[in-house]
Amino acid sequence: MFNKVTIDDLQLAGKKVFCRVDFNVPLDDNRHITDDTRITAALPTIRAMVDRGARLILASHLGRPKGRHDPKYSLAPVAPHLAELLGRPVTMAPDCIGTEVEELIAEMNNGDILLLENVRFHPGETNNDPTFAGKLAALAEVYVNDAFGTAHRAHASTEGVARLLSPAAAGYLMEKEIRYLGQALANPEKPFVAVLGGAKVSDKITVIQNLLGKVDTLIIGGGMAYTFLRAQGIPVGKSLVEEDKIALAGELIEQAATAGVELLLPEDHVVAAEFSADAAAETCARDGIADDRLALDIGPLTQRRYTEAVSGARTVVWNGPMGVFEFEAFSRGTFAIARALAESDCVSIIGGGDSVAAVNKSGLQDRMTHISTGGGASLEFLEGKQLPGIVALTDKS
Ligand code: 3PG
Repeated sequence: MFNKVTIDDLQLAGKKVFCRVDFNVPLDDNRHITDDTRITAALPTIRAMVDRGARLILASHLGRPKGRHDPKYSLAPVAPHLAELLGRPVTMAPDCIGTEVEELIAEMNNGDILLLENVRFHPGETNNDPTFAGKLAALAEVYVNDAFGTAHRAHASTEGVARLLSPAAAGYLMEKEIRYLGQALANPEKPFVAVLGGAKVSDKITVIQNLLGKVDTLIIGGGMAYTFLRAQGIPVGKSLVEEDKIALAGELIEQAATAGVELLLPEDHVVAAEFSADAAAETCARDGIADDRLALDIGPLTQRRYTEAVSGARTVVWNGPMGVFEFEAFSRGTFAIARALAESDCVSIIGGGDSVAAVNKSGLQDRMTHISTGGGASLEFLEGKQLPGIVALTDKS
């Protein structure tokens, strides 16, 4: 279970702390932050360190600027936003290394906050170049990582610096993410149900394989369900199918049966003639998808079956929507799962990108036990992989 040094184990007063956060937030055309979830999620760690007199140097990436300075990916809009949330000044640095940055750090007092410019403006970040990591490490005395969303990347600021500064501690968000996701995988309260959706089987193969040894019920929805139905010889019309994964889907069905895992697949469908928000939605039975139709959501029977399974669970991990929830007519299956989770007192863990967007759209986000801030990171965690940003943190002795 969780055995890393955390900020609560550290003496922070007067210390220069290099804290990796994940402020990779969406911005609109006017460079306004459209969703600050990742910033607010890091506030407890930031507040705790500032209150304890740390000189806080925050580092993050934003987007994928390919190793060169590109104003489009500047973290500058984050500094005033963070300052407003904290009610205290946040200084924006012109870069993440170099003389100017060193001078700004030399002038810092206890409790001051400096936000470094995008670490991915330097190619050494994603290459995990030891020289670049050394320059980042030279800025501080202590390393803290609160960037769970980037923990699957072995980059200079997530992995390299952690090897150079000791101790390398977890922030509260990192700790919380590892505790919830780790507990679900290692010691879930049973029945344990996984709800997997999204477009492609290929994105979820390793997650399915890892979860088959742990869950009681595996619910499959979304576009990926149709590759499974094809493997069972069920006609799926124009629905999304990964031809090269049909055989594998068949094997996964067999593996589930051998493992004694109940595998639920759609029993009816909401279909349309085309992939469009205005397409007329029709309901059809399991075997009833016509050649000129494609499935865009689970049907009402399936909704009932899936929500019953979710309601009877003590632990649920959900990754991936049940249909095209962005289109109102095909959003019901996904929102039914969100509602069932909200109404249940089970431990509900929402991992990753689209399912988080769906829960937020449903307005039920406050009724989930844990919504992960990591898309790729939570998926790799559920696959059972060791995440380099976590591995590099100092173990509690
Ligand atoms: C994310 O948005 O999933 C993280 O910030 C990681 O970003 P990346 O996929 O560009 O490494």
